[in-house]
Amino acid sequence: MILAIETSCDDTGVALFQRDRGVLASALASQVDLHALFGGIVPELAARKHLEALFPLTQHVLRESALSLEEIDCIGVTVKPGLVPSLLVGLSFAKALAFGLNTPLVGVDHLEAHAFSIFLREKVDFPFLSLVVSGGHTSLFMVKNEGEMYLLSQTRDDAAGEAFDKVGKLLKLGYPGGPVIDQLAREGDPQSIPFPRPLTGEGWNFSFSGLKTAVVQYVREYGNEIRDRRHLAHVVASFQRAVVDVLVEKTLDAARYLRVPRIVVAGGVAANSALRNIMGERGEREGMKVYFPPMTLCMDNAAMVAYVAAYHFAKGECHGLDLDVSSRSIYPRWNP
Ligand code: KG4
Ligand code: ZN
Repeated sequence: MILAIETSCDDTGVALFQRDRGVLASALASQVDLHALFGGIVPELAARKHLEALFPLTQHVLRESALSLEEIDCIGVTVKPGLVPSLLVGLSFAKALAFGLNTPLVGVDHLEAHAFSIFLREKVDFPFLSLVVSGGHTSLFMVKNEGEMYLLSQTRDDAAGEAFDKVGKLLKLGYPGGPVIDQLAREGDPQSIPFPRPLTGEGWNFSFSGLKTAVVQYVREYGNEIRDRRHLAHVVASFQRAVVDVLVEKTLDAARYLRVPRIVVAGGVAANSALRNIMGERGEREGMKVYFPPMTLCMDNAAMVAYVAAYHFAKGECHGLDLDVSSRSIYPRWNP
């Protein structure tokens, strides 16, 4: 039995998982209302909230699964990449548990956890491409096996979710911008404003800060018109389609070029309805299988951390109590 902890950003997650039985309990405490007051994540507040939430969430999953601490074989915990103060709280809690229970500790990479979140629902054959799109990351991986993933490309500046959040803030739609933009975009015409599709036709790396600037310029020019809800819906629908087009174009190009007909999209932005529809349709048309985890597994959660911790634990890949956290993660590049 694995007890896993996720505190890399602004959601506290604790889950209990067993390889042959699946997720036995998973609990999440979102801090979104707190950070919404500031229009973005305040790292120290996030860390303090994790500190408050971890113990009650752990008690909750134990109660819900009717298991006791003694039945835990291993503690899994996200150690990178993420906000250092948040990661430190999760890791300290995990170390205390591992020490107290005398169990092994497994540090987990957050993007690896996103890439494998789909496995909590269905198996995917190896190799597959994984597009991890969240508030902090936009990275495309070649996944060869459990724990074996290679970086194909990433964003040069803003992450896709960050672009959604910044545009949401600019248009005073609240934080986080992604879900609100997704909803409002349904009322608009995605073809109405020709926002740029950055770096298309220029390899697989992404860039979203220029697109965000194009929205800023549009708002400066048409500030009065966008007070009209219909016009505002056209702006967000056009912006969203530009993000989605770039993500779909580059991922499909990589899949075609590398002859890997399986694509897994994960992370918070994988909850986006336009991305799910367009990537799904375009992929299927080209004979590829496109996988999206269910919405609850797209967002940060500890169940996906437990899944990854479980296979590392099974292979004996554990860490000592001197384990540290890191804001960044370095992946080997794909080099066929
Ligand atoms: O994976 P996640 O929960 O946390 C990080 O690791 O960053 O992703 C959060 C991000 C936020 O930027 C949020 O705006 C975005 O995911 N997001 C969405 C949607 N739901 C969440 N972006 C676009 N459309 C959505 N429906
Ligand atoms: Zn995440």
